[in-house]
Amino acid sequence: MEIRPTTDEDLDVFVDTVHAAFGYFPETPVEGGGLWWSALEMDRCLLALTADGRPVGTAATYPFELTLPGETLVPAPGVTAVGVLPSHRRQGVLSAMMRHQLTALRADGQFLSVLLASEASIYGRFGYGPATYTGRLTVQRHRAALAPARARVSADAPAPVPDGGTIEVLRRADCGEILEDVYDRYRRTQPGALSRPHRWWTLRAGQPPISPAPRYVAVHRDADGVPDGYASYSIDKARTLTVDETITGDDAVFTALARFLLAHDLVSQVVFHHVPPGHPLRWQLADFRAGEVSGDMDWLWVRLLDVPRALTARGWFADGELVLDVEDPFLGEHGRHLLTVRDGKADCVPTDREPDLSLHVNDLGAIYLGGTAPSTLVRAGHIRAHRLEAAARADALFRADRPPHCLHWF
Ligand SMILES: CC(C)(COP(=O)(O)OP(=O)(O)OC[C@H]1O[C@@H](n2cnc3c(N)ncnc32)[C@H](O)[C@@H]1OP(=O)(O)O)[C@@H](O)C(=O)NCCC(=O)NCCS
Repeated sequence: MEIRPTTDEDLDVFVDTVHAAFGYFPETPVEGGGLWWSALEMDRCLLALTADGRPVGTAATYPFELTLPGETLVPAPGVTAVGVLPSHRRQGVLSAMMRHQLTALRADGQFLSVLLASEASIYGRFGYGPATYTGRLTVQRHRAALAPARARVSADAPAPVPDGGTIEVLRRADCGEILEDVYDRYRRTQPGALSRPHRWWTLRAGQPPISPAPRYVAVHRDADGVPDGYASYSIDKARTLTVDETITGDDAVFTALARFLLAHDLVSQVVFHHVPPGHPLRWQLADFRAGEVSGDMDWLWVRLLDVPRALTARGWFADGELVLDVEDPFLGEHGRHLLTVRDGKADCVPTDREPDLSLHVNDLGAIYLGGTAPSTLVRAGHIRAHRLEAAARADALFRADRPPHCLHWF
C-alpha cells in the first residue's frame, strides 16, 4: 500500500472515496448538507492506494487555530475526511495513514492536532483523547422560566432587550459578515474553540449557519449598535424551535438571546444544541427540570505531539509542580517531565524524579484544556497517581479560566 499527498487533480477521486467510505451520496447545497468538501485544501490531503493504484483510504487536515486556556491562540491542524472503503477495513489502512499524518505534522513543527470522532472507539489508540464535551438542552416552552421578553420583533425597528441591547431577526442570507465577525471575537476568548477560516464562510462550507440551509438568525447588538451575539435557528412543523448555535462571549447576551428564543409564539419546545454539561443556561430555569439534557457526548479530541511545547503554550491559573510520566505507545515514545507553574506560566523540563502521575498521551490530551479532571481519569483507572494528593494537585493545576467548549463541526 502507498500513502501519498494529493494535488488539485485528485479532488474528485478523493471526495468520491470519502463518500464511499461513509456510505453517503453527495448532498446538494439546498439539502443543507453543506459543501463541506469545498473547504478541503488538496495539499493537506492524503490518499491510501493499493499496490495496483486503487484509492482505498483518505485523510486530511484543515489549518485551524485553537484557543488554549489563558486566551492563547495556537495552530491546530484539524484532522478530517478520514475513511477507508468497507472492502479494505481492519487491514491497517487507517493506522498507516495516522502514522504518516502524525509524522508529517511533527515535521511541519506542529505540537498538537485535533479532530471530531465519528465513533469514540477509533482514536484513543492513535493518542487522541476527548477534551471538550457537548450536549443538547430541550426546554418545554410552557415551563420555560426565563421571563418572556416584552420586546417587539421587527425588521426595521430592532426590539429592545433588558440588558440595554437589541435583538433583530435576520434571514441567514441577509446577515452579511455579522456571523463571521461575532464568531471570530467569541472564539478568541473561549478555551477549546476553533477558528473558522474566512474561506469557509465565503464557500458556505460547513453546517448551519455556515451552510446555505435556510435559517433565521437572532442578532444581538450592544447599546452602541455593535453586533455582539447571535443565535441561528429554525422552526419545524412539529413546533420545535431548534437552535444550531448561540455565539457570544458575554453571559448576559447569551441570556438575552435564550430569553428571546424561549418567548417565541407557536413553539412548543426549544432545543438548544451545543450546551455542554455545566452550562449556566440550565441553572437559569426556575424549574430545573424544565430543561432536559440529552446527546451528552465528546466533541473535540486533542493529540499532543510535543508535550513540553504543548504544556508551556497554555495559560495556567494556579502555581504548583507535577512530575508526569508520559507513554506514547503509538509513536513508541516515553518521556518524564517536570511541570512547574509560577504566575500563570509553565516550565516543562526532562527529569528523573519519581513521577506524581503516570499516563498515556491520549489521557494527557483529554486533560490538556481543563475540560476533564485528572482525578476522574485516576478514578477510572486510566491515570496512575503515585501519591495520595497528586490527583487533587493535578486538578487544581489543569483547571482552565473557563470550561473549554468547541462547537465547530468539521
Ligand atoms: C474508522 C475507519 C477509518 C477505520 O479504518 P481501518 O483501516 O479499518 O482501521 P485499522 O485497520 O487501521 O484499525 C486499527 C485498529 O483500530 C480498530 N478500529 C478501527 N476502526 C474501529 C472502529 N470503528 N471501532 C472500533 N475499533 C476500530 C481496529 O480493530 C484495529 O484494532 P487492532 O489494532 O487491535 O487490530 C473505517 O472503519 C471507516 O472508514 N469507517 C467509516 C468512516 C468513519 O467512521 N471514519 C472516521 C471519521 S472520524
